[in-house]
Amino acid sequence: MFEHVVPYAGDPIFRIAAQFQADQREKKVNLTIGLYFEDDGSVPLLSCTQIAEKQWAEQKQPRTYLPMEGLATYRDAVQRLVFGADSEAYQSKRIATIQTLGGTGALKVGGDLLHEAYPDSQMWISDPAWDNHHSIFGGCGIKTNKYRYFDSQTQGVDFEGMLADISALAEHSFVLLHPCCHNPTGADLSNDQWLQLIAVLKEKKLIPFLDMAYQGFGQGLDEDAFAIREMAKAGLEFLVANSFSKNFSYYAERCGGLSIVCKDQAQADQVLGKLNAWVRKNYSNPPAHGGHAIATVLDSDELYQSWLADVTAMRARIHAMRHAVYDRLNELAPAYDASYMIKQQGMFSYTGLSIEQIMRLREEFGVYMLDSGRISVPGLTTQNVDYYAQSLAAVVS
Ligand code: LMR
Repeated sequence: MFEHVVPYAGDPIFRIAAQFQADQREKKVNLTIGLYFEDDGSVPLLSCTQIAEKQWAEQKQPRTYLPMEGLATYRDAVQRLVFGADSEAYQSKRIATIQTLGGTGALKVGGDLLHEAYPDSQMWISDPAWDNHHSIFGGCGIKTNKYRYFDSQTQGVDFEGMLADISALAEHSFVLLHPCCHNPTGADLSNDQWLQLIAVLKEKKLIPFLDMAYQGFGQGLDEDAFAIREMAKAGLEFLVANSFSKNFSYYAERCGGLSIVCKDQAQADQVLGKLNAWVRKNYSNPPAHGGHAIATVLDSDELYQSWLADVTAMRARIHAMRHAVYDRLNELAPAYDASYMIKQQGMFSYTGLSIEQIMRLREEFGVYMLDSGRISVPGLTTQNVDYYAQSLAAVVS
C-alpha cells in the first residue's frame, strides 16, 4: 500500500543534532539546533513558568476545549508584547491574533490563509533560509522563491540586492522577513534599512509575513520588534508569527502566536473568523497548559519582571560568548576574520567555513555545526569556548 511513499531523509537540523547526541566522545560541542543553554550546559526551566504552571495546576480546571483562536488572555498578551500596549493598531483593535502551535504553527495557518486569499501569489524567502520556511509554505500549496539576502564578503546583509529583488516583485507577492536575529545568518537589517524596505513593501503592495522566533535575543524585547511596530505605524497590512520557544525556554509546550494587522477592527474580526476556520481544519484548537502559563506570566507584574530578567541574562550570555570567540580567534588565528561573531546577533552566526572545514571540526574535534556553517551560539559556554576557538583556529590556519 505504501511502497511508493518516499522515505524522509530527516530534517537537516534535527539530524545533525542527533548525530551530536550519538557521539560518544566526552569532549564535544553542540552548535547545531537553536536551543538556549545555560553556562553549565543545561536548558533552563524558568522560575516564572514553573510558578505559573503550579498556579494553573492548583486551579484544577476541567480540560475542556479552548476556543479555536486560543485563550483570550494569551492573545491579548501576544499583541502587547509584539506590537506594544501603546500602539495604535493594538488600541484600535485592528489586529487579529490566534494562539498557535509554536511559531511553526503560526506560519502554517498564516500560509493557508494567504494561499486561500491569493491563490496565484508566490512566497519570497531570504537566501539563505531556515529550510523549513520553504517546506511549510510549500505544504500550504504556495510556490516559494528566494531573494538575495546575505553577502558572504561583508558577512552582513546584501541590502542592495535584497531591495532590488523585492522591488521587482508582482503586487500581492508574499515576502517572508525576520524582524530580528535572522536564522540562519544572524545578519540583521539596521533600523534605517527597515524603514527603506517598509516604504518599498508599501509602494509595491506586497504582503509581508514577519517571523519573530527570537524576540529579546538581539537588542531587547522592544528593540527587536522595531520592524513590526514601524510597519504597523506605516499603515501596512501584514502577518506576524511569534514564538515563545526560545525566549521562554518553552520549546516542548509549542506556544506561539499569529497576528494579522488589518485595516480596521471590522476587517480584523472577519480575518479572525477565517483563521479559526483554518485552525479547525488543521488541528481544531490549541492546547491549554503552556498557553495558561505564558498568559499568567505576561499578565503578572512580578512574574513579568522575573521573565524580563531571564531574557536579559540570556541575551547577555550570548553576547559574551560572541565576544569571547572573537577575542580568542584574534589571538589564535589573526588572519581569519572573525568579526562576524560580533557583527551578527541573536542565536545564530554564519561562520563562512567550507564543508571540508565543517566536517573536520565534526570528525576531528567533536564540534558540531550545520553543514551550512551555521552555529547556534548559546551552545558555547565558558567551559568550551576556548576549545571551540582552538578547534576553529586549527581548521582555518
Ligand atoms: C533552529 O533553526 O535550529 C530552530 O529554529 C529549531 C528548528 O525547529 O529548526
